[in-house]
Amino acid sequence: MDNPTICYKTYLKNKYVSLCNPCLPRISVKKALLNRKSYRVFSQTPLSVQDVSTILYYGLGINPSFHDFKHRFYPSAGGKFPLEGYFFALKTHIACGIYHYNVQRHGLEQLSSFSSFNLSEYFPQFIIKKPTGLIVLTGMLQRTMEKYGERGRRYIDMEAGHVGQNIQLVCTALNIHTVPIGGGYYLKKIESILDINSKSEPVIYVLALGYDAK
Ligand SMILES: Cc1cc2nc3c(=O)[nH]c(=O)nc-3n(C[C@H](O)[C@H](O)[C@H](O)COP(=O)(O)O)c2cc1C
Repeated sequence: MDNPTICYKTYLKNKYVSLCNPCLPRISVKKALLNRKSYRVFSQTPLSVQDVSTILYYGLGINPSFHDFKHRFYPSAGGKFPLEGYFFALKTHIACGIYHYNVQRHGLEQLSSFSSFNLSEYFPQFIIKKPTGLIVLTGMLQRTMEKYGERGRRYIDMEAGHVGQNIQLVCTALNIHTVPIGGGYYLKKIESILDINSKSEPVIYVLALGYDAK
C-alpha cells in the first residue's frame, strides 16, 4: 500500500478511527454538474460515517484504478500531493472532535475532542448556518516547492480547487449540502487548534457540509 516517492502525514500515536468503505451513488457527471450549488444552511441531522467516509475518500483518497498508489481523484503537480485534510466532526456519527484524514489507511486520526464547539470563534461567517462537518485543506509547502520553487505555491492552491470541486460533486451525488469557504476566518486560531505552522503548512481552503435543511 505504498509508493516511496509520495509523502504522507500521519499521527501514528493518536487514537485512530477506521472508516467504512466509501459508497458513491451512480449519477451522471452531467447531473452532478447541473445540481452542484453552494448551500449555507444545514439540517442538524448528524452526518453518517458512510457519508463522511465517501466524501473524504473521493476528495483526498488514493485512486485504486491504477494499482501503483501514484494517483488520486485529482491531479497534482509532479505527483507530489501536498494537500492534507482535517475533518471537524461537529455533529456526526463519529465522536465530536477534530481529525486528520490518513490517506493511506483511509481513516481518521484524532487530534482533539470536544463536547461542543463554537464554530464562530474560528469561522465568523454568520451567513453559514451550523454545518455538521467541516473539511480544512492545508498544503505541505515543501513537497511541491522543493521541485517547483515559488510557482509551486500556486500549484497547491490550484490543487485545492480540484479537490474542492470533487468534494462538491461527490456531496451533490450524496444529497449533501456544501459551501467552499475561501477566507474570512481566524487563520491563527485554526492553525493553533490544528497545531500547524503556516510557514510550512498553511490553511488553503475550507468546505462546510451537512444534510439538506428541508
Ligand atoms: C475560492 C472560493 C471561496 C469562497 N468563499 C466563500 C465564503 O467565504 N463564504 C461563502 O459563503 N461562500 C464562499 N464561496 C462560494 C461562492 O460564494 C459561490 O461559489 C458563488 O456564489 C457561486 O454560487 P454556487 O457555488 O452556488 O454556484 C467561495 C467560493 C470559492 C470558489
